[in-house]
Amino acid sequence: MRIDIITVLPEMIEGTINTSILKRAQDKGLVTFELHNLRDYTLDKHKRVDDYPYGGEAGMVLQIEPIDRAIAYLKSQRDYDEVIFTTPDGEQFAQSTANELSLLNNIIILCGHYKGVDYRVREHLITREISIGDFVLTGGELAAAIIADAIVRLIPGAIGDEQSALSDSFQDNLLAPPVYTRPADYKGWTVPEVLLSGHERKIHEWRLEQAEKRTKDLRPDLSRKM
Ligand code: ADE
Repeated sequence: MRIDIITVLPEMIEGTINTSILKRAQDKGLVTFELHNLRDYTLDKHKRVDDYPYGGEAGMVLQIEPIDRAIAYLKSQRDYDEVIFTTPDGEQFAQSTANELSLLNNIIILCGHYKGVDYRVREHLITREISIGDFVLTGGELAAAIIADAIVRLIPGAIGDEQSALSDSFQDNLLAPPVYTRPADYKGWTVPEVLLSGHERKIHEWRLEQAEKRTKDLRPDLSRKM
């Protein structure tokens, strides 16, 4: 899979993609990331990529020209399955979105910034608009990093034990059950007996029961989706 990210602040994303599991996935050849600084695509001699909004509102707006040039350049190199724009008024990102996107070959993520982007970008160049939640960030970079992280860990081989991505919270609209590790008794705080029993079926049943109980208690909205 290849993920191209277009941004005015590549340094905000660099750390995330070059650390831990995302870095390992790149080293293993499972994913290729390319960060593109939008300023490299402007014809403006001062490298400006934003301008005042028509109609005179506060804030600056990213211009269509460098964005169009960046996307056109990438599309001239290969086909893209989606051109995603990160914005608080997009569809709400969820595990199901990550699952879907992890099956694609090539995607572009354009990070929103400042007051927004010239709306013609969204009308003509973007195929999918994604929000990571009902709150406003300073820009779409952190959202792009979160989306990339959630996608890449689903690519087979990206995390050690493939089973563990399948048993994540949300994969069945269920929160994950509690996990414990040694010591079995810490200051008298003990691990549930069943987990020490070695009885696989009972352990499996206990985990499912716990997942259902936690979902019902903590996320009744997810329980209703089942
Ligand atoms: N840009 C600013 N806020 C955002 C959000 N909540 N989701 C995606 N992109 C954003």
